[in-house]
Parts: sequence; C-alpha cells; structure tokens
Amino acid sequence: MEIVKNVYWVGVKDWNRRIFDSLIPLPQGTSYNSYLIVNKKTALIDTVNPGFEEKLRENIEKILDVSEIDYLVMNHAEPDHAGAIPYILELSDAVLLTTEKGAEVAKSYYGVPKDRTKVVGDGEVISLGSKTLKFIHAPWLHWPETMFTYLVEDRILFPCDFLGCHTAYGFYDDEVPEIIYYAQRYFGEIMMPFRNMGKKAMKKLKELEIDIIAPSHGPIYRNPERILSAYEKWTVGETRRKVIVVYASMWGATEKMVNLIADILLSEGVEVAVHNLAFADIGEIAKDLVDSRGIVLGTPTVLGGMHPIALFAVSLVKALRPPLRYGVAVSSFGWSGGAMKQISEMLSPMKIEILGAVEVKGYPSEEDLEKLRRIAKELAEKVKG
Ligand code: FEO
Repeated sequence: MEIVKNVYWVGVKDWNRRIFDSLIPLPQGTSYNSYLIVNKKTALIDTVNPGFEEKLRENIEKILDVSEIDYLVMNHAEPDHAGAIPYILELSDAVLLTTEKGAEVAKSYYGVPKDRTKVVGDGEVISLGSKTLKFIHAPWLHWPETMFTYLVEDRILFPCDFLGCHTAYGFYDDEVPEIIYYAQRYFGEIMMPFRNMGKKAMKKLKELEIDIIAPSHGPIYRNPERILSAYEKWTVGETRRKVIVVYASMWGATEKMVNLIADILLSEGVEVAVHNLAFADIGEIAKDLVDSRGIVLGTPTVLGGMHPIALFAVSLVKALRPPLRYGVAVSSFGWSGGAMKQISEMLSPMKIEILGAVEVKGYPSEEDLEKLRRIAKELAEKVKG
C-alpha cells in the first residue's frame, strides 16, 4: 500500500491474535505496521512480530529487493516491532538506526553488533536524498529506548506504539468508526502508566507539522487531529463525570452493594461503567480507567482476604496508574473479615480520596444500605464537582 509517493506500508495484519501481553483481549486482532521509504537511500521503519518475517519480505519485494534497504529504523525494541530485525539484517547490509538505549537492547535481544548500528540523537536528521528522516527521542513510550521518526518532506510521523491501537480492521482511521474506542483501550494498558512521558512527547509533537500519523499498530491516521486531541486529554489525566465499578461477588452480598451505588450514581447524572470480574474484559477495565474520576471496588472476604480476582484487579489498577480521584470500597464476609483491611492497605499509597469503606457481615442490612446511599451521594457530588 502506497501512503504517499514512495512511502509504503509493508506490514502485516494479525487477524487471529486474541491476547496481548498475556493480559488484554484483542477482539479485532492487531497489525504490525512496517513502512518502507524509497529514495536515493531506502529506509525500513520498524519490522513485524516473530513468525511474520516471510510475509514482510514478500511485501517489501513487491517494491524492491530486501538487499536494497540501507537503513533499518528501530523506533522500539519490543519483539512485535523488532522481532524481524535479525532476518532483515541477514538479507541486507542495512544499518540499524536507534537510540543509545535501543542499541543496547538490539544487542541483548537480537544480537545486533555495534558495527551494524548507528545511534541517532534527539533531533538528529538523516538524508535519504530528497527525503529526510528526523528522530525524536520519546523514552518510555513504551520502553526506555523508544523514539519517533518524522519524515520531514511528507510530514508523516512514525510514533511506533504511541497513538496506536489494536485492531486489524481498516487501513485508514476514517474506515474504522470505533477507532477512538480501540485507541482508548490501548492507551489504558500501554500508555497510561507513562502519562507524564506522553505529556512531554505531545509537547514535542506540537513543534511538528503533521499530515499523517503512521503508528505501528492499527490504522494510519490521515486525519491526525482526532487522535491527537484524545491524547491531549488522556496524557494530562483529564477525567469525566464517570465512575468505574469493579467487583467480585460469590453469593450476591457485594453485588447488591455495588449495584445500589451504581443506581444512585446513575440517578445523580454520573456515567457508570460496571465490571463483574468473574467475566470482565480487562481491556474494557483499562479503557474505563483512562477517564473515570471515581472508582468503586467490591470484594467478599475469601480465605481471610480479598477474592483472588479482586486482588488481581486492584494490582492492575495500581500498575496502570489511572487519574482516579475518589474511591469507595465495599466488602462482605461470612464469619470473619479481612478483605477490607487488605484493600485499604493496597489503596493507601494511591492518591485516591477514599470516601467510604463499608464491610458487612452476611447480606447488607437496611442500616448498611442507608450508609451506602449516603456514600454514593457523596461520591456523585465529588465526581460532579
Ligand atoms: Fe507494540 Fe511496545 O510494542
């Protein structure tokens, strides 16, 4: 696929991939986007996931022989983009262009020797002839070695993971109506833990004129404004009047409590997203954490502590570092508690104001329910405020 004259998409669509990082379901698969720039010198930007090397070669060889590649740009060393680097280097005399940290990872992961690597500095340019590559260091998006590449004359940004999404559908953003939904799922898992680095990168991008964003997963944005304005909000942690409810329940007591809170929040005009952890899609939770202002966590006590899937969920929430501001915890137990103590300990290092923690024995009494109603109203006021 030619994106603009002499700039080609030569990546692969992985329609069958159903999970990423052994964590996030991919309902529509994903793509590993690789780009070929043909000029006096030829550059390949990023490669593909291991197992797709032959398909990459086939795509490149519709345009030229792999041996004609002069530069192999490694924006990011993770195997879904760099896995085919040894294969391409074997078939060509290409020099690997990457950051200093990238060179270290290329050596340790892929055995790329120093004499096949050129380290590029932040803002450095390399001329391909009538086209120029500019490198923009963007650490921790998504690993410490990451950088973006900007094709100056065509005003195309190649940001690798940043601004991408997991869907194999469509080739351009306007062909995928739900693209921002997929981008938000992706941001929640991949980029949210590095929001500050994302904010810095967005500042750098403001200095560039960008006509096309060509990420390494998902469709190419020929309307970059939509994704850039979404990232403007997500990277600064802009939240909505929204509460995410995440819970586990075995015999319905915890569920009764979280449902009551959810109903009150809805009646107060607050957006609510409820996830029963027994069958929740972790990608949906990650997506809802991106813009929720409040969280309700619910778990019964099981074997003296939180239900194991609630324990997992709280660990996930902590790891993803969402911009949550207010929280409520509810718990139930049969003969001895323990879950609430554990949940409180886990949440205490987070900058979440806990508005209420309710632990009930058996099913909630009318008194418990009244207390929950008061807490839910307070949560609604805070979230709306
Ligand atoms: Fe798509 Fe961080 O790799």
